[in-house]
This record gives sequence, structure tokens and C-alpha cells, in this order.
Amino acid sequence: MRFEEKEIILKDGRKCILRPTSPEYAEEMIDYLKETSAETEFLLRYPDEVNYTLESEKEILGRLLDDPYCIMMLATVDGKAAGNGSISGIGDKRKICHRCSMAIALYKEYWGLGIGQAMISYMTELAAGVGWTQVDLEVVAENEQAIRVYKKCGFTETGRRHNALRFDDGTYHDEILMYKDL
Ligand SMILES: CC(C)(COP(=O)(O)OP(=O)(O)OC[C@H]1O[C@@H](n2cnc3c(N)ncnc32)[C@H](O)[C@@H]1OP(=O)(O)O)[C@@H](O)C(=O)NCCC(=O)NCCS
Repeated sequence: MRFEEKEIILKDGRKCILRPTSPEYAEEMIDYLKETSAETEFLLRYPDEVNYTLESEKEILGRLLDDPYCIMMLATVDGKAAGNGSISGIGDKRKICHRCSMAIALYKEYWGLGIGQAMISYMTELAAGVGWTQVDLEVVAENEQAIRVYKKCGFTETGRRHNALRFDDGTYHDEILMYKDL
């Protein structure tokens, strides 16, 4: 989806731009997916599972930019990618088409500066504009920092998925299910 850029001021005084993740950021997005998944275990992918070529990533980002039911938001600080977030529909069947799902991750060096809260606020505002009335998310049960941020942004814990993830070290991890009315 195309949407207006928004400038925010971070807690350290720097400016951050929230903008659609367009194909021109394909290379940065591939690096971002690899690096953020190495920085935290709380994301679904391992770095070696990021296998996009530049061409395939450009094609995907172009398609998502033209999709009115997908919000892909890039945060940049001093022209560099700081993080990305997305909201997309759960499905187009009438019984579930009121719901969408959110994901977000920032590079570690940008945690705690207010970017997450600003992105969630802007993405959920855009999602309400699309017509969705509920946004859902899943978060690894041990990811206390993210759970605190989501609660601060108005999300409510609604359930738990047993052993949702198995890490490479053989340990299993539950997911917490959260939602927010739009
Ligand atoms: C989760 C994440 C997106 C949050 O974004 P962020 O930019 O770090 O969060 P913000 O700085 O906007 O914080 C939002 C609020 O939560 C509070 N908060 C953030 N981290 C906190 C912590 N560790 N303890 C207590 N409060 C915390 C902030 O103080 C802020 O409240 P305030 O504005 O009143 O000060 C980011 O930390 C991240 O990318 N983490 C790694 C990837 C990840 O886990 N993604 C979620 C997968 S489900």
C-alpha cells in the first residue's frame, strides 16, 4: 500500500521517517532480514533461511506496494533502514476479513528510541482506514520487552499457543496471542 511519509523525532533527538517499503530498498531489506534474525531469537526466521535474490525481493516489494491490503512500513534514520513493520489481512473469506495481522522488528541499535511505538500507532491507523476492525499478533512468550511495548500500544493478551516454535537447540517455546480493536 502507498501511504504518506511521516517524520517522527526519536528520544535521542534524531529524525526518523516512516515510509512505504518500496523496491528501491530491496538490498537493504535482505540485509535487514538476515541481520535482525541473527540479533534476536524472537523472530521466525534463522539468518540462513533468508534466501531472497535482489530481483525476487524487488518483485515482492513492488507487488506489496501495489496491494491495498498490505501495509509494509520502513523506518529510516539518517537515510539508513532502522526497522520494518507490516500488517496484512488474515484472509478474504467473509468470516475473517475483518482481521489483520501485524509483525515488526528493528535493528537492535534502534531499540528503545520510540520507533516501535510510532510505527505501531501509524500502521494501526492505516489498518483502520483499510476497514479492518481487529489486529492480531503472536509473540514468543519469553519476549517480555515486545509484550510490554504491545500492551503499551493497547494490545490485550488473549491466549497461548503451546510449543509454537522449536529452536535449533531443541528447545520449544510458546507463543502469546494478542489483539487490539481498531
Ligand atoms: C519490540 C520492538 C519492535 C519495540 O520497538 P521499540 O522501538 O524498541 O519500542 P519503543 O521504544 O517504541 O517503546 C515503546 C514503549 O515501551 C517501553 N519499553 C520498551 N522497551 C522496554 C523495556 N525493555 N522495558 C520496559 N519498557 C519498555 C518504552 O519505554 C516505550 O514507552 P514510553 O514511550 O512510555 O517510554 C523492538 O524492540 C524490536 O524490534 N525487538 C526485536 C524484534 C522483536 O522482538 N519483534 C517482535 C516480534 S513479535
